[in-house]
Amino acid sequence: MKRMKFPLIKPYLVRKDIQEVTKVLDSGWLTQGKFVEKVEKSLKKDNRVKFAFLLNSATSGLIAGIKALGLERKDEIIIPSFTFPATANSVILGGAKPVFCDIDLETFNLSPEKITALITPQTKAIMPVHEFGLSADMGKIMKIARQHDLFVIEDAACSLGAGYKGKRTGILGDLGVFSFHPRKIVTSGEGGCLITNSSEIAKKIGCLRNHGEYNRKFITYGYNFRMSDIQAAVLYPQLMRINIIVKKRISLALNYNKFLKPLEDKSILKTPVCPQGYKHVYQSYVILLSEKIDRDKLKKFLRAKGVETQFGTHCVPLTDFYKKYFDIPKNSYKNSRYAYEHTLALPLYHTLKMKEQEIIVRELEKSIKKCAR
Ligand SMILES: Cc1ncc(COP(=O)(O)O)c(C=O)c1O
Repeated sequence: MKRMKFPLIKPYLVRKDIQEVTKVLDSGWLTQGKFVEKVEKSLKKDNRVKFAFLLNSATSGLIAGIKALGLERKDEIIIPSFTFPATANSVILGGAKPVFCDIDLETFNLSPEKITALITPQTKAIMPVHEFGLSADMGKIMKIARQHDLFVIEDAACSLGAGYKGKRTGILGDLGVFSFHPRKIVTSGEGGCLITNSSEIAKKIGCLRNHGEYNRKFITYGYNFRMSDIQAAVLYPQLMRINIIVKKRISLALNYNKFLKPLEDKSILKTPVCPQGYKHVYQSYVILLSEKIDRDKLKKFLRAKGVETQFGTHCVPLTDFYKKYFDIPKNSYKNSRYAYEHTLALPLYHTLKMKEQEIIVRELEKSIKKCAR
C-alpha cells in the first residue's frame, strides 16, 4: 500500500516506550500482570473512578457491560445510528436488541429530542457514543434515563480525556468503555477499558473478563477478554503524557478551524463544534461538506496529492446486515445518512506541523474546486 505524505493517523510512540515493552518480555510474564495493574491505577486516578478493567477491545467492554447489567434478548438499547458498527454489534452480542436513534448534525451525537419517542416497555438502556471525541449531551440523556428508569452505557471508545461540564466522559452513566485501537487517543494496538463506580458491576466484569473467576474460584462462566502485559506496557507511557497528547490534538484542531474559516464563510464546509462547557479531544477532526461537493471524488483527488482522508463513520442501519435483518423505516435516519455521505476526516496526529496543516488545507481548497457537482 502507498505510504501517504500526510496519513490520517500516526500513533505517537517514542523510543523510550519500547524499553517498557522490553521490561515485560524480559520478565517472562506476558499475560495480564503488573503493567495491566499500573495502567488501571492510572486510568482510575485520571478519571476519578472506583473501578477500571483493561480488556482486549472496547467491543469486549461493551459486550461485558451489557451482560453485567443483566439485559436479555427482548431488551432494547437505544444507540445512535451514526457510529462504528461495533456499537450495534456489541448490543446483539451482549444479548439485547439495538434501536437506532438519529443524530444531531451539529455535534454528530445522539439527538436527545429523538430518544423519548423510541422508548417502549422493552427499553432498558441508552448507549450514547461520544463521537469523534466530543461528549454527547449527557445532561439531557441522563434526565431521560432517570425519568424512564434506564441504564446508561457510555460508548466512550473515541473520547478518552474528553469532558462534559467539568466531568470526564465514561463516568457520567452506569459504566463507560474506552478503545485503544490505533485510531484512538492512545493505543495498545488493540485494547479497551471499562470504568464504573458500581461495585456490583465491577464484580461481574472481573468474572466476565477472566473465565468466570472471582477470588480464585470459578463462580460463573466467562470470556477471556484480558489485555496482555505487552499491550499494557505500550499504553503506560502514553497515559503518562496524556495531557500533552490531548493538548496537542486540541491545538491542531484549532489551527484547522482557523485555516478552514474562509471555506466555512463561503458555506462550502462546516468545522467541528465544541459547545460551551465541553472538552473535545478530536479523536478525529471531521468536517461536514456542502451537498455541492462530491466527497468521494474529493477523497480521491486528495489521495493523489498524498493527503489521506476518510469518511466520518457509518450510518449503521443502512449497512448490509442491519438493512437485511432489521425493520428499517424508509427515509429514516436523515441526519446520519447525510453525515455518512458528507463528512470528511482530515489527517490529525501528534507530529503533524502547523505548516503541514496549511499545505493540507491548500490542497483541500484546490481539490474542492474540481469536485463541485
Ligand atoms: C464508537 C465506537 N465504538 C466502539 C468501537 C470498537 O472499538 P474496538 O475496536 O476497541 O473494539 C469503535 C472503534 O472504532 C468506535 O469507534
